[in-house]
Amino acid sequence: MSEQVATLAQQLQESTRELHQRVERMPVQQELARGTLSRENYIRYLCQMLLIQTQLDTCMGLYRKTIDPGASLIHDYYFQSDLVHSDICFLKECSASNNRNPFLFQDHPILPETYSFAMAMNRSVSESPISLLGFLYVFEGSKNGSKFIANSLRKSFSLPDGAGVKYFDPYGENQKPYWAAFKESLAALTLTSAESEAIVEAAKEAFSGMIDITGALQNQSGS
Ligand code: HEM
Repeated sequence: MSEQVATLAQQLQESTRELHQRVERMPVQQELARGTLSRENYIRYLCQMLLIQTQLDTCMGLYRKTIDPGASLIHDYYFQSDLVHSDICFLKECSASNNRNPFLFQDHPILPETYSFAMAMNRSVSESPISLLGFLYVFEGSKNGSKFIANSLRKSFSLPDGAGVKYFDPYGENQKPYWAAFKESLAALTLTSAESEAIVEAAKEAFSGMIDITGALQNQSGS
């Protein structure tokens, strides 16, 4: 029988399965999924994601200007710090300012764990630009679950259509096709084993970063 070689998307899924289970079982993630997280703690979560997504956006902006084979994978719709920002502004009932500084919301400060993860992403991508695809895999993949979490949040906070959960459900009906297209584009890349490894390591780093942030939020909220 011929041995099948796992695609990069399969490698990513297999190598991070255990980390995914860990993060999704954490109390703050469970409360998000059930729609029982308080509005205040949801805003606090989004404020952390604002810095992480801002870092991801910056890295993607630089990466798509390179001649790296993965640069063509970066679509405009992956840039989502504006969505996080507008969700926060909606939930805090403040007018959306043009100031996108992630440190703007002083009553919901950036946690050290969030800052460390943003710095770690920056470092990894500076050392190995293609590792960005591992970070992107995690945040694009997370839309599979967050689309459903958005429904719980809509119900729990009685949100009007299209408000407060744009970051969790940015694509609506396009989520599945966009995710399939991302995995196909990954499979179409010709990569050295070192490059594939860098991408897988970055995905693990992203999950670890999210586990640290979720844990820190948990400690703050006493969940
Ligand atoms: C309670 C919280 C969560 C739930 C309920 C959840 C649920 C799901 C579900 C149902 C899928 C689709 C699985 C499939 O189609 O095989 C998925 C995929 C995924 N989720 Fe989550 N998730 C949660 C949290 C997270 C978090 C915090 C992250 C990271 C930021 C994350 C990253 C991913 C990734 C990368 C995938 C794609 C896996 C793959 O098919 O390669 N998830 N999640």
